[in-house]
Amino acid sequence: MKNFLYFLIPAVLFLACGPQERISKSVFDEVNKGMEAKKLSEAQITQEAMIWGDSISNDAQQQLMANLHKAVNEQGAAGALEFCNVNAAPIIKELSEKYGVSIRRTSSRARNQDNLPTEEEFPILDAYLFNAENGIENEPNIQTIEGGDVLLYTKAIVISTEFCLACHGYPQKDIEIGVLSKIDSLYPRDLARGFEVGDLRGMWSLKIPKKAVVLRF
Ligand code: HEC
Repeated sequence: MKNFLYFLIPAVLFLACGPQERISKSVFDEVNKGMEAKKLSEAQITQEAMIWGDSISNDAQQQLMANLHKAVNEQGAAGALEFCNVNAAPIIKELSEKYGVSIRRTSSRARNQDNLPTEEEFPILDAYLFNAENGIENEPNIQTIEGGDVLLYTKAIVISTEFCLACHGYPQKDIEIGVLSKIDSLYPRDLARGFEVGDLRGMWSLKIPKKAVVLRF
């Protein structure tokens, strides 16, 4: 655990300045078929993946939040809950296809069981939780997986405002009865309640193929 935390802390801070070009799925597939890649050092690839991962996860977060706010305004929390149930996964899937990068959100206290952490993700989430509970700021993390061809980019998701509590706070105190019964019927194994503002809610988890990073140059 100690080594692992050490790895998390010095993560790169390139937040707002990431390149914005996008890569289409067809171009990405072409490269995977074996196009000659330009030479970038491993360190450069990791650094660029960190920047790219940050801009992709920001984009995904913004898209989800824009849709969620619209749904809450138009349909109230109970209606928005159904909206999330139907649309959160497709919105994220569409972005995965657009970028040629596998994108997901994961949490040890997931609402949707599909979002529970994998073996690779679990120790990272655990380290983020340790940091959050000990007042250490969580930075994005990147590490090599799948025999070295893929980078796993992760970024903590925090309960940032009271807005989240209408669906992730304490039953009755924050989550209205009508919303709660919808949660119970749609997600009988829900773990994503009882959060407070500032709590770690989960993390973004992106699998970025190194080839896709190289192709951007
Ligand atoms: C209107 C209700 C609602 C609000 C408000 C809401 N969520 Fe959620 N959230 C959901 C639902 C429903 C899911 C499960 C979506 C699915 O089935 O994929 C979910 C899933 C998630 C997940 C994925 C992990 C999991 O538990 O399945 C994260 C992370 C998350 N929400 C964070 C937040 C944050 C942070 C906020 C505030 C900025 C927020 N949510 C506000 C309803 C809501």
